[in-house]
Amino acid sequence: MSDSKSSKPKNSQGPLSRRLDGVSESATLKLNATVQAMKARGEDVINLTAGEPDFNVPDAAKEAVIESLQKNRSKYTPAPGITELREAIAAKTNAQQPEVVRSQAWKAANVIVTNGGKQALFNSMLALLDPGDEVLIPTPYWLSYPEMVKLAGGIPKFIPSTLANQFKIQPEQLKNALSSKVKILILNSPSNPTGSLYSKAEFAALAEVIQSTPGAENTWVVSDEIYDRIILGDTPFCSFLNAAPGLRDRTVTVNGMSKSAAMTGWRIGWSVAPENVTQGMITLQGQSTSGINSLAQWASLAALKLPDSYFEQGLQIYRKRCKLMLEILRKARKIEVMAPEGAFYVFIGVKDYMRAGEDSIAFAQRVLEEAKVALVPGTPFGEPEFLRLSFATDEQSIQNGCERLVKYLEK
Ligand SMILES: Cc1ncc(COP(=O)(O)O)c(C=O)c1O
Repeated sequence: MSDSKSSKPKNSQGPLSRRLDGVSESATLKLNATVQAMKARGEDVINLTAGEPDFNVPDAAKEAVIESLQKNRSKYTPAPGITELREAIAAKTNAQQPEVVRSQAWKAANVIVTNGGKQALFNSMLALLDPGDEVLIPTPYWLSYPEMVKLAGGIPKFIPSTLANQFKIQPEQLKNALSSKVKILILNSPSNPTGSLYSKAEFAALAEVIQSTPGAENTWVVSDEIYDRIILGDTPFCSFLNAAPGLRDRTVTVNGMSKSAAMTGWRIGWSVAPENVTQGMITLQGQSTSGINSLAQWASLAALKLPDSYFEQGLQIYRKRCKLMLEILRKARKIEVMAPEGAFYVFIGVKDYMRAGEDSIAFAQRVLEEAKVALVPGTPFGEPEFLRLSFATDEQSIQNGCERLVKYLEK
């Protein structure tokens, strides 16, 4: 006899757990699949959606894999990663945070190597959040942040930023948003999708608010610095803690190889945090994924040792492409554009081109179908009237794609 109670769906999606209620699929991964399918059908689509560098992996990383294979480095690695890589990550972080080193440098024990920056962020949420804890997320945001917060039982709360403020939140806004319920503030500089970059002074002003607002004594910062090497303008990259060394004991710095060394598919990221939090993440990881692919870790160690000069050529290419993209886009009379200071995206406001009732998802769909240009809608990033264009692609595609877009908008 069937038990009607036990077969009753637990949530609106049938057998799935309630944990998945209201959690969205990754919109960018889905869009990319649509574009690939159109291309496979022979359609002439220009793809400006890339969320990953189009450069090759450094030779040093490839050689390290070959060497590791020859040395049979194919066993399980420790859950937090191989010691050599954890040490190299601590050294990189110390170099970016000299103000922190003055009081207490980071060591291997503060580092966990993860399956991309994504898992480091997810681990952070799982390790720090209790059900009902609030997480402040400046909009526009990288689309996975709110979903990760929800999966960890937290409640995302948004702080809007505007193009007029170069998509950076202001200290006053943070002050108003903080309360004893807020467990985490997520920061992302350079930002995906806007390309905005916080200067040292701007970060210091935010840190000062966190340190001086009553009730925020237990608020943590998770600083996503995955685009640290892709700096386009004159403002240098500043690691959050270097502007806020006083928050060392309540900050998690997240980074990885994906964007800086064009190693997206190798899935190496990490976090650097106080030891007790890192230990919590090691427990989580030890019971879920275990240590990350051994070959990719050795490859990352080799890539991390490359000098800054190695990345200079790639930067020059990004800067040139960015300039080209901005020049063409600015020909559209009603487009709102901000020159990005980092990462490889241009975020454009298109509200004056939208039809009544349309949001950026419908708009991007229309541009894809009618102009055959694939762009990422801003809606899943929390900005329904914007679109994200990527210049992590060749100049020809940038030129043709942006010209098609401008022509379509202006017709
Ligand atoms: C802002 C931001 N953070 C984190 C990630 C995750 O990167 P990965 O998991 O490939 O290291 C991405 C990737 O698109 C990103 O744009």
